[in-house]
Amino acid sequence: MNDEVRQWLRAARRIVLLSGAGMSAESGVPTFRDAQTGLWADFRPEDLATEEGFRADPRLVWDWYQSRREGVARVQPNAGHLAIAAFQQRHPGRLLVVTQNVDGLHQRAGSPGVLALHGNLAEDKWLEPPRPCCDPARLAQGRPPRCPACGNLRRPAVVWFGEMLPKAELAAAEDAARGCDLMLVVGTSGVVYPAAGLARATGGRVVVINPEPSALDDAADAVLRGTAALLLPELLEE
Ligand code: APR
Repeated sequence: MNDEVRQWLRAARRIVLLSGAGMSAESGVPTFRDAQTGLWADFRPEDLATEEGFRADPRLVWDWYQSRREGVARVQPNAGHLAIAAFQQRHPGRLLVVTQNVDGLHQRAGSPGVLALHGNLAEDKWLEPPRPCCDPARLAQGRPPRCPACGNLRRPAVVWFGEMLPKAELAAAEDAARGCDLMLVVGTSGVVYPAAGLARATGGRVVVINPEPSALDDAADAVLRGTAALLLPELLEE
């Protein structure tokens, strides 16, 4: 199976790599839905990853994201992230990374032009549309920080459940999915749309890389049971 996929890789002119939380698991970043270890095993997504949850308890949600930020700052891209970036360096413009991850590890590994569909954990934005008084350089400190004049809160610049994905990134990802020869779907349970829909809308062959069954296995031309940090270096090395 791996050899066949390697042949597809060699022949592919345009490759899209769609990644999820499993891509960063071997870096030490918890996934969301893995039974015992996933974040949603201990926390309720509606409390922590919705605007309603944030409005109900801004400090709880802010602190949770701060702890995730500190966690991500302590880890490094793994061999899978590095193999992708190295492939992109050897073959400029041939592979595009589209990620659901907000951890920035693809970007830290050196991947250019990553389309981050669910935002960026390291950035903040205003909860309400900013007023003339809302200046991110002049914040009243707190958890979360706020505008000293109108009280507008800062919130993590990630996409919460029920929110729209960033338009430009999603449009670019849909274009790339339609036009690619091969899509590698790495480390995602494939249950969150519209991201998972890219693997169903693509014109290219689909290869799923996941140690466990995923909701996108039925859309795949090949399923490789293994981890990102072990399989990607093997598949992408020259
Ligand atoms: N290598 C590859 N895949 C792995 C690894 C690994 N080392 N470890 C776990 N996996 C797989 C799991 O089997 C699972 O299928 O990664 C997948 C992780 O799935 P989820 O936790 O559901 O994460 P993801 O698919 O990225 O979630 C999508 O949901 O909670 C929201 O916004 C959040 O972006 C996230 C979205």
